[in-house]
Amino acid sequence: MDLMNNYIDLSPSPVALIESLRSIGYSMETAVADVIDNSITANASQIHVRFSWNSGNPWIAIIDNGHGMTESELKSAMRFGSMNPLQTRARNDLGRFGLGMKTASLSQCRHLTVLSQKNQQVSCCEWDLKQLTQTDSPGWKLGILDLDAVHQRSTLNQIYKETFSQTQSGTIVLWEDVDRVIEHSELSKQDNHFNQVMNDTRNHLALVFHRFLSPDIGKKKVVVLMNWDELQAFNPFNSRNLATQELEKQQIVVDGEKIVVQPYVLPHHNKISRQEYEEYAGSGGYLHNQGFYVYRNKRLIIKGTWFRLIKKEELNKLIRIQVDIPNTLDHLWKIDIKKSHAVPSELIKNELNRVIRKIEIAGRRVYRQRGARLSSAAKHPVWIRKAVGGAVVYQINREHPLVIEMLAKTPADHREFLEQVITMFEVGFPTDLFFNDVASTPEQVDKPKFDEQALELLLDVFLNRWASSGMSNTEVVEEILHIDPFTSNKILTEEILKRKGYIHE
Ligand SMILES: Nc1ncnc2c1ncn2[C@@H]1O[C@H](COP(=O)(O)OP(=O)(O)OP(=O)(O)O)[C@@H](O)[C@H]1O
Ligand SMILES: [Mg+2]
Repeated sequence: MDLMNNYIDLSPSPVALIESLRSIGYSMETAVADVIDNSITANASQIHVRFSWNSGNPWIAIIDNGHGMTESELKSAMRFGSMNPLQTRARNDLGRFGLGMKTASLSQCRHLTVLSQKNQQVSCCEWDLKQLTQTDSPGWKLGILDLDAVHQRSTLNQIYKETFSQTQSGTIVLWEDVDRVIEHSELSKQDNHFNQVMNDTRNHLALVFHRFLSPDIGKKKVVVLMNWDELQAFNPFNSRNLATQELEKQQIVVDGEKIVVQPYVLPHHNKISRQEYEEYAGSGGYLHNQGFYVYRNKRLIIKGTWFRLIKKEELNKLIRIQVDIPNTLDHLWKIDIKKSHAVPSELIKNELNRVIRKIEIAGRRVYRQRGARLSSAAKHPVWIRKAVGGAVVYQINREHPLVIEMLAKTPADHREFLEQVITMFEVGFPTDLFFNDVASTPEQVDKPKFDEQALELLLDVFLNRWASSGMSNTEVVEEILHIDPFTSNKILTEEILKRKGYIHE
């Protein structure tokens, strides 16, 4: 007997589906970025993001001078799922899912109009949720606008006239009925909020597209304007500053495709101005922004994460690693529709782990150099640094002349007790607190102030001892300046010695 399958048509209800897709998790900034992806893929050299509060009826338009679309291309572009995500894409294509333009736009607005010009032909289509929700809605029916209809739409017409008087080809993506951005803010504060959100969007775009805004030599530059104001690239590695350490580049080859990994150690705060240091901290600060920065076709997808391979630590806070992946490896990265998330497969994670192990060491060197400078030039330091096994410990120098002097002056039956007290100081040193302070706000870590009187009291111990030793004044001064705390308080010590006649001007 033949088995027979019966099929019924079960197309999704457009309104229900679109309403759900609106909640996919786009923010204004990720939504605008997703539309800009298409402009870059269409080879645009200029992309203008225009926006207006429009007395409480805000609109946003993303206008490019890319290759545009013919009428039939535009129609299929308007389809939800215009391309199978499994299909191979051109190497420079920033798209993957065939959804971005629709889902990103409609996550922020209820009325999307796309107008495109190619071969001197203008085509225009719209998805208007208001129309789709009408009870006699004809289903997934796309609105087609002829030029007369375009002229009757004031915002669209204005942008159209301003744009296509100069360019041969290009695309306008217009969002009207922009509701999401204002729905949760108080009526009187909505315009402020809108401007704030657009400002955040500007910063997001300056980062996400920085490799296009400020490309490598010989590569095509893309100009992005926001209401006529040109966006400046924000390079999270501050790679043009000579104080940034560019560590050795590494390559991972997977399925015959290359992943290029370029680690940077950003400049330590004492190498650059405070303003520059703070500028490159990025939102959330250095600690938060350490880690991998993954670029897909030079477009930033995800930033400041170690993919749980290591924890974010003070010690690594200046390390940022650029990872370049091609769109041919999307299957190994689990890129999300919003292009704001990516999870590397185990295979890639293992490779990245190997890279981290190497780099961590170099990153630590930045701090170590500084640590080395902290150690004193004194022949008789108060503290000595000792490497014991794998660990480093700091101890009070038992050979320091003043320690010797103190122990010598102590009656024999108290000496052991005194030594134990010294040991207690060493063991009780608040290493964790100190370390944390040095790593997070080194500029604020200081020593307790040493006043002149205290210094003089200590100095007198030596001067008295050497007074009858036959040492010349010059020799005494020479010796003293090699003993801490005199070495680290040289100017003050010299003043006292001058006053006492040991140094002559
Ligand atoms: N500004 C544009 N210029 C030219 N063609 C465009 C433009 N915007 C979109 N298109 C066309 O519309 C198609 C659909 O765009 P959409 O953003 O919805 O999906 P996608 O870019 O293919 O994939 P993804 O969902 O990953 O963004 C694109 O593949 C492209 O062919
Ligand atoms: Mg796209």
